[in-house]
Amino acid sequence: MTTTPQLSSSSQQAMLKAEALLQKMTLSEKLGQLNQVSGQYGGISADLRQAIQSGNVSSVINEVDTPTINELQRIAVEESRLGIPLLIGRDVIHGFTTVFPIPLGQAATWCEQTIEAGARIAAIEAASRGVNWTFAPMIDITRDPRWGRIAESLGEDPYLCSRLGGAMIKGFQTESLNERTAIAACAKHFAGYGYCESGRDYSFANISENELRNTVLPPFKMAADLGVATFMPSFSDLNGVPASGNHWLMQQVLRDEWQYQGFVVSDWGSIRDLTVHGLSEDDKHAALLAFNAGIDMEMVSDCYAKHLPELLSENKVDESKIEQMVRRILQLKYALGLFENAQTNSEEFVALANHEHLLAAKDAATKSCVLLKNADNILPLDSSQLASIAVIGPLADDKYEQLGTWIFDGDEQHSVTCLSAIKALAGADTKITFEKGLDTTRSQSEEHFSKVINAAQDSDIAIMVMGEESILSGEAHSRTNIDLPGAQVQLIEQVVATGTPVILVIMAGRPLTIANVNDKVSALLYAWHPGSMGGEAVADLLFGRAVPSGKLPVTFPRVVGQVPIYYSQKSSGRPATNETFVHQNNIPVRATQTSLGMTANHLDVHFSPLYPFGFGLSYATFDYSEIRLSEHRLTMESSITASVTISNRSEVDSQEIVQLYIRDLVASTTRPIKELKGFKRLPIKAYSSIDVDFEINAELLGFYGPNNTFITEPGRFNVWIAPHSDTTNYQVFELVSEALNN
Ligand code: BGC
Repeated sequence: MTTTPQLSSSSQQAMLKAEALLQKMTLSEKLGQLNQVSGQYGGISADLRQAIQSGNVSSVINEVDTPTINELQRIAVEESRLGIPLLIGRDVIHGFTTVFPIPLGQAATWCEQTIEAGARIAAIEAASRGVNWTFAPMIDITRDPRWGRIAESLGEDPYLCSRLGGAMIKGFQTESLNERTAIAACAKHFAGYGYCESGRDYSFANISENELRNTVLPPFKMAADLGVATFMPSFSDLNGVPASGNHWLMQQVLRDEWQYQGFVVSDWGSIRDLTVHGLSEDDKHAALLAFNAGIDMEMVSDCYAKHLPELLSENKVDESKIEQMVRRILQLKYALGLFENAQTNSEEFVALANHEHLLAAKDAATKSCVLLKNADNILPLDSSQLASIAVIGPLADDKYEQLGTWIFDGDEQHSVTCLSAIKALAGADTKITFEKGLDTTRSQSEEHFSKVINAAQDSDIAIMVMGEESILSGEAHSRTNIDLPGAQVQLIEQVVATGTPVILVIMAGRPLTIANVNDKVSALLYAWHPGSMGGEAVADLLFGRAVPSGKLPVTFPRVVGQVPIYYSQKSSGRPATNETFVHQNNIPVRATQTSLGMTANHLDVHFSPLYPFGFGLSYATFDYSEIRLSEHRLTMESSITASVTISNRSEVDSQEIVQLYIRDLVASTTRPIKELKGFKRLPIKAYSSIDVDFEINAELLGFYGPNNTFITEPGRFNVWIAPHSDTTNYQVFELVSEALNN
């Protein structure tokens, strides 16, 4: 992932064409190409028409009505002097009309093919309406489930995020942007948004350069190397300089170091926000700072449009730099084939939310659900043994809430809920009683509880579908308390008290703190917000028509006070251990300060998470052998193979996500106690074994060191191949700088 991106011959052509067009443009037309405006949701005002005719608009965001888009493009192509077509941008985040699981759920699939297929379908549906640019993937690393936008993320780990984010980019853009169903992607939000203090959206992140380079930036570097068409800065303040005005980030890192060739679009009004941040005095100053930082296109606010002419006449900005920005934008328009044809004929595309698309959404949802608990193997349910089932909860039959955040174009009519899917699977002889119990996930009223209790008492099993509604996660929807909201915990407790076994299904946009119900229920399936086909996916898993295979892309805390908690923490000088953990209730009164040991523990909660990163159960049982190493030493040029044998000890065919972790034991900057360095999702048949290999070379062991350059240091490493991150069984190998002579 350290190569400089090479231009394909089609992008070289796009460059030549953009260059020729640029020579014909007036200053005002050049400035127009830096301007993105908001669509009017199905209409075109006289002002917008006139602005496009005058060449003052480069892109329109949030228009999805095809006749309107075609008319906007016609005006641009036929009525503006140079006939430059428009970029039509839309947040296509986890599907379009067909809704896939939220990105965090998709990350739980650990499956590049599934994610690429989902993005492909989203692109086809969006392109069929005339959209040619999405603002996805969001590849912000975050370790804070309070942050509402964790729902849009691919989780806590840079390696997992890079592989899955890359798959999403490929799905949107395909091999060639010129392909009719391809849409341009956008790597966002560059950078550090997921580290906002206390998970509060839009705020500030102080991240050392070393942490940035090792953890936050790698997915963005991957996206740049892969040729993602555009980048978007974060709304947040990074080390004192908000990203939209951050020259170091946008120029030094993105352009100079990474040689990124695409263009950068601001976030919604984020240039104007620089003044609110306190970085600029007014819009004009904000325009100057963003321009100098290297933001090529302004989303929705008009600081550039209003002030760049003046800044130019004052010689504060340089026309050649404006031209460079325009060049990049035109190149994308050429690459997308918009100059050849900017019109969309929806009839040339497959239907929205067609059967095949919905099946793909179901497949993604099935792979994304994580089975966290299955006491006494109560799952899968055998419907022939169940005379009655109580289906309970505010999310059991809600076509809208299961879709999750960012579903502008999702259509709930296509949703299949858990209740309807359970009814379809349970068979005519099983009595199903549905009780919502709470009007919404936030309801405090216990007035319907008695009906729920009766239903549970009269049933062989209770399936409770609880969690949080869509609106409780996503942008600007952060929470400080991430317990199940409302009176859900009380409802679960009362149903458990009936003695009827409880299967808890949770739909949520984040890891919730569920320790307070985890021990009480018999089984726990975490479904995230699973999208259109979530109900069918969940029912198939509960009744054994499918086998759970998802694994957590993020650590589940016991209590919110543990946040940030993530598997790849550093050791500290006094790491917490089981032996040294003493709960505060067990501390003798007036114990002297040092008498119980001095380690990195909290007093009130064990240091471990409720569920570790990478964790997820199956109906199959897998045994991992000891790790085998082909050699115990490797050089800077050679590689070794680490392998295990995994045996499926059950009668169930299943898929297993096998994970490779490495620890660099001694380095010139401290390294995490474990880092994900590889994974494979593999089918393993009942009662069979497979060998799984991972290749380890020096590059895999490199990191950003004290000077924040990528280095590889000789030394000893631990290696684990394991079903999740909380694993102890490792081997040691050594990286040596000199050639091996044996
Ligand atoms: C979000 C972006 C999004 C943009 C356009 C902003 O509020 O931060 O992620 O792409 O809006 O809708």
